[in-house]
Amino acid sequence: MLKPSVLHKLKTIVGHEHLSTVPEELVAYSYDATQREALPWAVARPASANEISQLLVLANQERFPVVPRGAGTGMSGGSVPTEGGVVLSLERMRRILEIDEENMVAVVEPGVVTGDLQREVESRGLFYPPDPASHQFCTMGGNIAECAGGLRAVKYGVTKDYVLGLEVVLPTGDVITTGARTAKSVAGYDLTKLMVGSEGMLGVVTKIIVKLLPLPESVRTQAAFFLSVDDAARAASKILTSRILPRALEFIDHAALRAVEHYLKEDLSDGAMAMLIVEVDGPEETTARENSKIADIMAACGATRVSKADSASEREQLWKVRRSISPALYTIKPKKVNEDIVVPRSKIPDILREVGDIAKRYGILIVNFGHAGDGNIHTNIMIDESELQKAEEAAKEIFAAALRMGGSISGEHGIGIAKAPYLPMELKPDALAAMRRIKRALDPNNILNPGKMFSPGD
Ligand code: MLT
Ligand code: ZN
Repeated sequence: MLKPSVLHKLKTIVGHEHLSTVPEELVAYSYDATQREALPWAVARPASANEISQLLVLANQERFPVVPRGAGTGMSGGSVPTEGGVVLSLERMRRILEIDEENMVAVVEPGVVTGDLQREVESRGLFYPPDPASHQFCTMGGNIAECAGGLRAVKYGVTKDYVLGLEVVLPTGDVITTGARTAKSVAGYDLTKLMVGSEGMLGVVTKIIVKLLPLPESVRTQAAFFLSVDDAARAASKILTSRILPRALEFIDHAALRAVEHYLKEDLSDGAMAMLIVEVDGPEETTARENSKIADIMAACGATRVSKADSASEREQLWKVRRSISPALYTIKPKKVNEDIVVPRSKIPDILREVGDIAKRYGILIVNFGHAGDGNIHTNIMIDESELQKAEEAAKEIFAAALRMGGSISGEHGIGIAKAPYLPMELKPDALAAMRRIKRALDPNNILNPGKMFSPGD
């Protein structure tokens, strides 16, 4: 709990109206998309790096936890204040500060919604590719913290591939800048890359410089339905080895399809067992050619129906289906344990088979969907509260399978609290120890987002 004198100082730093201890408000800042929750002691909504710096200096003096928060759409519990303390919401810092069209960079504050930045740059013929499924709600600061990926990663990479530089308030309150506004810069250690994906544990990002690309001339999207998961997985592999690089190649299994159909109250698939959505971009004639070639490949792999989205609204409809999966899954069971393993993409058919076997062995429903193009499959173990233990054992087996195939336990959701117990399955003790040393060097009093990523005793 915070002493009244500390609360008073916090109010002086951020302004009375931007510091709350009202229980109803605290609840709103207590959870993320994992269904995990813990109440903070207070919520602060600062408006500048200077205020954040003062707040962190106070946190070091008084030793209270500070948990940075974007929109709370995270999938690993990274912004859940598990040890109480002050939630530092970046919601007031939501300005697009600059779009430099000549040098193709944008400078934004952390509270900017990713979709808003995308729309703004697209209106100027530019393109910010990273697009987590939650892009209409998630914020750039959260994307930096988790190194968000998304649907277009197969062609365009993830958040870390676009961040050129940052302004960061370190846990001790020092304000630093990292990187540069240029494509090249090798001046010193790459602190930008260190911060991206550090899950709000090494600093609070207050300004973000991202690179932009020219907006592709055309985009074409199509969907195909299959009678088996195996056919769809084979089609995905075939597309990826045909010397075409789609900008999205998404896989949806039958349980996810049924859940979305129920959720959207639409029959989309005539009972199909799997669906692929494939999108290409580039010059008109190239996308037309690639689109046809992909349709032929999918038909040859047994697609029962291939539908090309001819208009913007048809495209939007396809992506609505895909982006509705996460909420739709709650219509199947009250709880989901959502993992986001990644494997080399040639192993997609193998991992899907193995996950199927694990589901059978545990007598548990596992729903698979996700970014087949980059090997990042979301395996959602659907359970009632009483099945949690079984789900955790199944998850461990899924992680082991992904690691055996040369993959990783998390492609884009991060470790947070959800995957902290499993991190030692992937990282050797020396690597974990090096990470802990970095954390201690930057945050000697462990005030910034404590209790995340590492389990006690790692
Ligand atoms: C997605 O791809 O839809 C997101 O990563 C969210 C999820 O896994 O549920
Ligand atoms: Zn995803």
